[in-house]
Amino acid sequence: MNDNGYVLRVENLDVQYHTDAGTVYANSQVSFNLKPGERLGLVGESGSGKSTLALAILGMIKPPGRIGGGEIWLENTDLVKLPEEAIRQVRGRQVSMIPQGAMNSLNPVARIKDQLIDGMIDHELGLSRSEMNRMVREALEAVELDPQVAQMYPHELSGGMKQRACIAIAIAMNPKVIIADEPTSALDVVTQRQVMQTIGHLQAQLGSAVILIGHDMGLMAQFVDRIAVMYAGKLVELGSVKDTFTHPMHPYTQMLISSLPRLENKGTFNGIPGITPLLREIPTDCVFNSRCPQAIPICMQRVPKLLEHRPNQWAACHLYQSEEN
Ligand SMILES: Nc1ncnc2c1ncn2[C@@H]1O[C@H](COP(=O)(O)OP(=O)(O)O)[C@@H](O)[C@H]1O
Ligand SMILES: [Mg+2]
Repeated sequence: MNDNGYVLRVENLDVQYHTDAGTVYANSQVSFNLKPGERLGLVGESGSGKSTLALAILGMIKPPGRIGGGEIWLENTDLVKLPEEAIRQVRGRQVSMIPQGAMNSLNPVARIKDQLIDGMIDHELGLSRSEMNRMVREALEAVELDPQVAQMYPHELSGGMKQRACIAIAIAMNPKVIIADEPTSALDVVTQRQVMQTIGHLQAQLGSAVILIGHDMGLMAQFVDRIAVMYAGKLVELGSVKDTFTHPMHPYTQMLISSLPRLENKGTFNGIPGITPLLREIPTDCVFNSRCPQAIPICMQRVPKLLEHRPNQWAACHLYQSEEN
């Protein structure tokens, strides 16, 4: 925990990808914080910058990507300033990620046990063989996998089991922050729920903070304490699940929530009209203005700041900041 009582504090983070086709401003001025043991859901449509944010926190932004500015404090260390060598010691041990499409990130020619042990060796923890075996057993047990899975190769496992194995790898070293990037999107609904429950139990046991990334706000709401909504590279709303669902502030959040399938309309999904901006420029106005049914003139002129408009409920929207200059 740092002096403010947060395990993670992201401050004005900018991440860009510099490609031949131009620059993509994938994260602009992203700020939020996380308390120890807290579960934060990060939602937003595809291309809004969620995975970029996760990779930045793990020190894994690679060319053509670049962190253009900002701070990422893990307890009392600013990861943005840390050299690659030092970041490698943090990754896996202090923060770890269950990557998007994790099931396919397993090495097909290595036993699950060896993939778990690789992470421990990388960190030069100086563990004995029997200590490593114990950690392997405990990690598999924690994700409700049979100890025999240690001896198996990925192709011998079902999708749900592979996903659990990836979670076991991510938690083996008891990190303070676990980032799960769409951990269940490739699984069927029943397995999704089971895997989410496993993450929930683990989180409670380990006391790690979790950032759960997804686009299914309904599923997410059952597993997190707070929700952060991302749109076109910016955080547009941040608040408790209850506040976000009962009185969403940002028009984009309002539309996301009203588009959730409900029993009354028999599961039909109302899409949100319009297209997402391509993130080709540093925003100088509200990124949502072209799709916003409530836009007012200032929305075309200025970037709204993410501000706390109600206790613990933050929104980046001019509708609430008329007196702000
Ligand atoms: N390696 C990369 N090179 C160039 N552009 C990228 C790269 N990775 C992501 N992007 C772009 O950055 C934006 C945000 O992507 P991403 O963070 O993957 O969003 P999400 O996870 O929300 O779908 C998108 O426009 C995407 O095309
Ligand atoms: Mg992604």
